[in-house]
Amino acid sequence: MAGVLALVPLANIGWDAATGGLGVEPVEALVRRTGWWALTLLVVTLAVTPVRRVTGWNRLIQIRRPVGVISFVYALSHFVIYVAIKQWFALSFIIEDILERPFITAGFITLCLLTPLAATSTRKSIRRLGGKKWRRLHWLIYPAALLGVLHYFWLVKADTRPPLVYAAIVIALLMMRLDLPAPFARKAARSDSAEPAPSRS
Ligand code: HEM
Repeated sequence: MAGVLALVPLANIGWDAATGGLGVEPVEALVRRTGWWALTLLVVTLAVTPVRRVTGWNRLIQIRRPVGVISFVYALSHFVIYVAIKQWFALSFIIEDILERPFITAGFITLCLLTPLAATSTRKSIRRLGGKKWRRLHWLIYPAALLGVLHYFWLVKADTRPPLVYAAIVIALLMMRLDLPAPFARKAARSDSAEPAPSRS
């Protein structure tokens, strides 16, 4: 259900693209809207475990994997739109962009970090890698989110408040995972051992 809901904005973007509802700069709008959703859903994925721990609402864990995978779908669409529609597959220009413009470099590294996470999001991958290795790999979601925020921060020209809000949320979530206050930690230790969902972010 959460997975379907997370795809609604994509359908909405597709609808706007088909009906001319993207404004005067449709390509820019496509890039920005897919990028915004990629980062927002990435932050939602990160927030699931801390929110579950604080509220004790364990069923929330069920949304983490689908929302994480859909965040990657947006990130990939964002990249594909940039390559195919914004740059018309001008590969040498794209490579130059990735190497020379820091905000594009950060976006590219973010996508590279998210790719193995999406590729190992199935239960089969968790069994194959083993829980410990899998969890270690999936810690990459934190540097990915931080770099995604940096990408956002570097590209905004005027109002830096939105990326700063994202930065504050990601840092707060990271701190909660690294150094949980004692009551939360005890609760987490108990519920984690019974956690049915394989993904951990
Ligand atoms: C190679 C990978 C990527 C490239 C080439 C890329 C490129 C771009 C470009 C050209 C823009 C628009 C800049 C402007 O309007 O001036 C943009 C915006 C954005 N991108 Fe990326 N990006 C990449 C990966 C990512 C990833 C992985 C995320 C998130 C997880 C992301 C999140 C965003 C956000 C949040 C925005 C701004 C949206 C807004 O203005 O509301 N990007 N990106």
